[in-house]
Amino acid sequence: MTHTYEALKDDVKLHSSGELQTLLYCGLDLYLQIKESHWTLAGREFLSVHRLLDDVASCVSDAVDDIAERIAQLGVRPRGTLQMAAEHSNLLPYPHDVDSIDRHIEVISERLAFFTSECVRVIGSVDEQGDVISADLLTSRAREIDKLLWLVESHLPTKTYK
Ligand SMILES: [Fe+2]
Repeated sequence: MTHTYEALKDDVKLHSSGELQTLLYCGLDLYLQIKESHWTLAGREFLSVHRLLDDVASCVSDAVDDIAERIAQLGVRPRGTLQMAAEHSNLLPYPHDVDSIDRHIEVISERLAFFTSECVRVIGSVDEQGDVISADLLTSRAREIDKLLWLVESHLPTKTYK
């Protein structure tokens, strides 16, 4: 069957799918890093942080699903296996020596901040090429994740406001 999705030119679709693929690798890695933290943290605030991190993981998983499906809509095969994400993710690895809830929260906050900043960069990049649909999709997902970042990092006693 002829591909009928012709709202964008081929070069724009290829540009957007490449940018989205970078986010897909990073998002898959981020999802498992949040789960790693969710499974291994321990301390007085365990239950509330454990539950919050599951909400964050679920939000990131939904974003990953949206990103992969957008790549497919653009006519490109999304690459989303664990092995591919491990090879290509530009997220820093989760450290193995995290031994306090505050440190878990710091690491997850840094990873969430990196992912949202990557989303913001890609939003600008695809919008500039005229792919406002990908830009809008990422804006709504980045807004949700950015709010969760605030909820997570607000647990830190060092959190301050200007
Ligand atoms: Fe769980």
